[in-house]
Amino acid sequence: MSEILTHAEAGVLTLTLNRVERKNSLNVAMYASLADAIEQAAQDAATRVVVIQGHETVFSAGNDIQDFLKNPPAGQDSPVFRFLRGIATFPKPLLAAVCGPAVGVGTTMLLHCDLVYAGDNAAFSMPFVNLGLCPEAASSLLVPRMFGYHRAAEALLMGEPFFAEAALEVGLVNRVVPPSEANALAQAQARKLAAKPLSSLIETKRLMKGPQQEVVLRRMAEEGAAFGRMLREPAALEAMNAFMQKRKPDFSQC
Ligand code: COA
Repeated sequence: MSEILTHAEAGVLTLTLNRVERKNSLNVAMYASLADAIEQAAQDAATRVVVIQGHETVFSAGNDIQDFLKNPPAGQDSPVFRFLRGIATFPKPLLAAVCGPAVGVGTTMLLHCDLVYAGDNAAFSMPFVNLGLCPEAASSLLVPRMFGYHRAAEALLMGEPFFAEAALEVGLVNRVVPPSEANALAQAQARKLAAKPLSSLIETKRLMKGPQQEVVLRRMAEEGAAFGRMLREPAALEAMNAFMQKRKPDFSQC
């Protein structure tokens, strides 16, 4: 069974993260599938809206840590960066339904979605510092803008989870519903959008996001360069090895 399921119906392309046994952590192949699907959806006239969803119990545990150690992203054309640029520049409506843990890129990808629906079991976190890394997906720019500086600093420096109600309060999600209803709500909203004139949706999104797009892409590239370098440094290696060995990391030498 594919780890990214795609389903197209009534102008809505749904991408389902389907690696629940690994908490929908994202490996290089999954990033490549997502990047290809997003790039194609931007061009394909039959796709009017895209929805990204996970499982009722888990949205995504972020990067697959084992895979990151084995295949660290090499440069701006690597699948993870292609995916991030794809969602940051996606011209049509992009929705997400999020239940359970949304770690790292599981949270930061939401900054590029237009509408986000959360299950009341959603737990968002951006624990880059705890992994010896730095923010990605332009989250160092977009999280302070969205949350306000102090709440952003708490989320990005402490890296602790925050929950659906807090995400609603800062504007990261549009609505909180029981987990069994989140995917269906995103689908219903996507269907409504797909019935609207696509040219108006595209122009409205362009007008809202256009002016900041260049800045976002520049920040993503800057973060990507730092992230790629830090992945090979002692703090990240210690954090990732500790995760795999199920022990607490020791940063006393980092
Ligand atoms: N990369 C690789 N494997 C992962 C993973 C990840 N990001 N997240 C979870 N897994 C694996 C676990 O190692 C575990 O494998 P095992 O069954 O061989 O022990 C399996 O998925 C189930 O995860 P588990 O931790 O037992 O589930 P949980 O419900 O207790 O916790 C999370 C869920 C998401 C809170 C927890 O798995 C977690 O914190 N994951 C790491 C998140 C992270 O740091 N991501 C990187 C962000 S850049």
